[in-house]
Amino acid sequence: MYSEKVMDHFQNPRNVGEIENPSGVGTVGNAKCGDIMRIYLDIDEEKVIRDVKFKTFGCGAAVATSSMATELVKGKTIHEALQVTNKAVMEALDGLPPVKVHCSLLAEEAIHAALWDYAEKHGIKIEGLEKPKSDIHEGEEEEEEEY
Ligand code: FES
Repeated sequence: MYSEKVMDHFQNPRNVGEIENPSGVGTVGNAKCGDIMRIYLDIDEEKVIRDVKFKTFGCGAAVATSSMATELVKGKTIHEALQVTNKAVMEALDGLPPVKVHCSLLAEEAIHAALWDYAEKHGIKIEGLEKPKSDIHEGEEEEEEEY
């Protein structure tokens, strides 16, 4: 059901932890399953992400996608990091089962939230970055979903 890469990143997640005095920090939750993710970014004067750490209280897919997402944004500029979508993360992991796709949104949104925090602290605007949601289902129509 899960690819080898997903299992590897779930069992040996990269970049777990937190950064003291981060340049930006973002927390996003998924109200439907109760899972939460927090991402810390250390960004230098060149706007390059020097370090990134995450903490996830979530399912295995959320752990694996956060781990891969942190690997993908590390060393990138903040603009390049915006291109790291949940789709890119899933591709890098050789896919996720369809019912687990929403879990990968946590990582993408948490990175955006951390970048937003960084931009606010520095009084800058990052082109293409929209105000992040605190919950990945925010703004969604009420709908019945099967889990
Ligand atoms: Fe909640 Fe995966 S089930 S993030």
